[in-house]
Amino acid sequence: MNNLIEIKGITHAYKTAAGPLPVLDDLNLSIPEGGFCAVVGPSGCGKSTLTRLIAGLMFPDEGEVWLHGQRVRSPRSSVGMAFQNPVLLEWRTILDNVILPLEIVAPRMPKAKKEERARELLAMVGLQDFANKRPSELSGGMRQRASLCRSLVHKPDILILDEPFGALDAFTREDLWQLMHQLRAEEPFTALLITHDLRESVYLADQVVVLSGRPATTQFVLDIDVSGPRPIDMLYSTQSVEWLAQLREQIKIAQGRGGRKRAAA
Ligand SMILES: Nc1ncnc2c1ncn2[C@@H]1O[C@H](COP(=O)(O)OP(=O)(O)O)[C@@H](O)[C@H]1O
Ligand SMILES: [Mg+2]
Repeated sequence: MNNLIEIKGITHAYKTAAGPLPVLDDLNLSIPEGGFCAVVGPSGCGKSTLTRLIAGLMFPDEGEVWLHGQRVRSPRSSVGMAFQNPVLLEWRTILDNVILPLEIVAPRMPKAKKEERARELLAMVGLQDFANKRPSELSGGMRQRASLCRSLVHKPDILILDEPFGALDAFTREDLWQLMHQLRAEEPFTALLITHDLRESVYLADQVVVLSGRPATTQFVLDIDVSGPRPIDMLYSTQSVEWLAQLREQIKIAQGRGGRKRAAA
């Protein structure tokens, strides 16, 4: 198998006081090594649930998650995660926040080595002069850059990004999109990005997956076939406008089904 991430027919329901809440329904997804997949879908359809299943933080009721040809049965340190609100520890400096995952997955690595790795990443994202600051001394965009460094510090094979740019202003967001392309060139990883921003999905991904309303299944897959560098202007090309229209249409369909139970097969 040459897909790094292989999700086969996962179905999952949360147990709630009001009974089971079906969230994912026979969802399939494949991401090749080095691929960048964006997942879009209605709010509450199960996107964050999907990320927890891939990271091995939860297990599906049915179906399988495979990473690197191995079935996921426990949490994976080969997965890095970043979220919308970067949870940085205020009592630690930016450098020490970035080092944190290494303290867990590589406790024996000498402190100097850990710092060297963290500084390398901070320089890559333009935060070299902020290593000794506290999180509250940084802007939202800078905190998200630091959070990206933290999610990459242990060289994970897979980077899961759950709406990481959602809380940022439009200009900062576009800067971070460009930074993502740069990071990907320097630090190879396979990415799964959850987003509600269709432009973001087209600019960053090479595959966009639209999930249906809850319980979510794979409704539509769009290949973003662009080779070479991606300037922001790419979003104004006739081809991108066409892709965005297709995705908007699919989201409308997904919202139309939102909350409706699928008829039994
Ligand atoms: N731990 C949980 N227990 C019960 N219900 C949950 C839990 N986590 C999420 N949900 C519910 O499952 C649905 C999908 O949640 P989530 O995966 O966070 O959606 P999304 O990320 O697409 O907005 C939502 O209706 C949410 O309220
Ligand atoms: Mg979510």
